[in-house]
Amino acid sequence: MTQKPTQNTKLIQSLVPPLPQYERVAGVSREMGVPLLRAEVGQFLRMMVGVHRPGSILEIGTGVGYSGHILLDRADAGCRLCTVELEEDRGKRARELFYESGFGDRVTVFLGDAKDIVPNMSGRFDLIFMDGPKSCYYTFLPDFLRMLNKGGLLICDNVLLMGNISGDSGVTKESTLMRNMRAFLREIQKPPWLSSVLDVGDGVSVSQLL
Ligand SMILES: C[S@@+](CC[C@H](N)C(=O)[O-])C[C@H]1O[C@@H](n2cnc3c(N)ncnc32)[C@H](O)[C@@H]1O
Repeated sequence: MTQKPTQNTKLIQSLVPPLPQYERVAGVSREMGVPLLRAEVGQFLRMMVGVHRPGSILEIGTGVGYSGHILLDRADAGCRLCTVELEEDRGKRARELFYESGFGDRVTVFLGDAKDIVPNMSGRFDLIFMDGPKSCYYTFLPDFLRMLNKGGLLICDNVLLMGNISGDSGVTKESTLMRNMRAFLREIQKPPWLSSVLDVGDGVSVSQLL
């Protein structure tokens, strides 16, 4: 699944100011081959955290913690982050990097498959950021509903699947992944969700639990 960036995308990316304080984490992410949060999506997340001011955040898909750093960057000092990562080497490196950045005491990294962990989690969160297994966006919705506080935000990255949802990619054969993502996009338009799907990065959905 590849999609050439449009001129608009290139322009938008060029406008995002760099975040030198997290360049080391971004570098480790690149070295370990973890797909990095796009700059414009990172900027959007920072803004959402600043506006919504969550006291607790759940993230699915830690990588080595780049997006976790971005989420905590503008959060209040008391805000805690729980984050779930399948790959042990990534999750362990993320823990180290969070400590190096002074965020360590505020972060819990769960190592393992989110498919096992998420249904058994009991925490409550003000913001959930989904950047993990794309096949689970739809299946995790009841768990997100259960764990999100009223008024809370569910933010999901990559919901447009590189133009495969709209047909822009030229792919016409519908895969299970595409079917699941379409089901997810339809579901978040129904109560109790109020959602907006943004053409930012590879598509970001923002849903408020009413
Ligand atoms: C796009 S990367 C996350 C990048 C990270 N959010 C960032 O921007 O720094 C997706 C991550 O989800 C993890 N992942 C994929 N499937 C998973 C699963 N079933 N459970 C937990 N993590 C999973 C991958 O190992 C990968 O590190």
